[in-house]
Amino acid sequence: MAQTTLFSREEIVKRVAEMGQQISADFAGREMIALCVLKGAVFFCTDLVRNISLDVALDFIQVSSYGNQKYSSGVVTILKEPQLDMHGKAVLIIEDIIDSGLSMREVFRYIESRGASMVRTATFLDKPAARKVPFSADYVGFSIEPQFVIGYGLDYAEKYRNIPEVQVLSE
Ligand code: PRP
Repeated sequence: MAQTTLFSREEIVKRVAEMGQQISADFAGREMIALCVLKGAVFFCTDLVRNISLDVALDFIQVSSYGNQKYSSGVVTILKEPQLDMHGKAVLIIEDIIDSGLSMREVFRYIESRGASMVRTATFLDKPAARKVPFSADYVGFSIEPQFVIGYGLDYAEKYRNIPEVQVLSE
């Protein structure tokens, strides 16, 4: 397996700071909940919320569509539900990557059904060419080609999440 750098730590830090500024402006004056989609988005989420200059509550949801495979099974199940009351809140769903769009579509629907007054989505990486269902995130860190990426939370069979940069994994 070869690993090549796609986004360096410096590029990531700069882009996440920009996203935090934009999100802070857009969510100003609202009761905000940052909802991290476990597990991959933990790294992006903790960096992003530290760049948000508002009071922000933090919660977690976990869905599973992949298992230990490189490709999505297409079946999305909610493994862990959020704990906070979403009613009337402005929720920012935070993902590490949108691939087929199935996970984000499911989480988005679920949070809307919990009575949030505003639901926005932020993804660190977006792979638009891999969509199986249409989905556009409100905030996108980087748009990438349909290649297999690891690091900064992204895994392959649970490995590589702790690599501080984003790398392309190839045969
Ligand atoms: C990955 C990623 C997204 C989802 C994106 O999660 O973190 O949640 O897949 O793919 P999709 O757009 O095709 O649904 P995964 O299920 O691998 O869990 P993990 O975050 O715990 O690694």
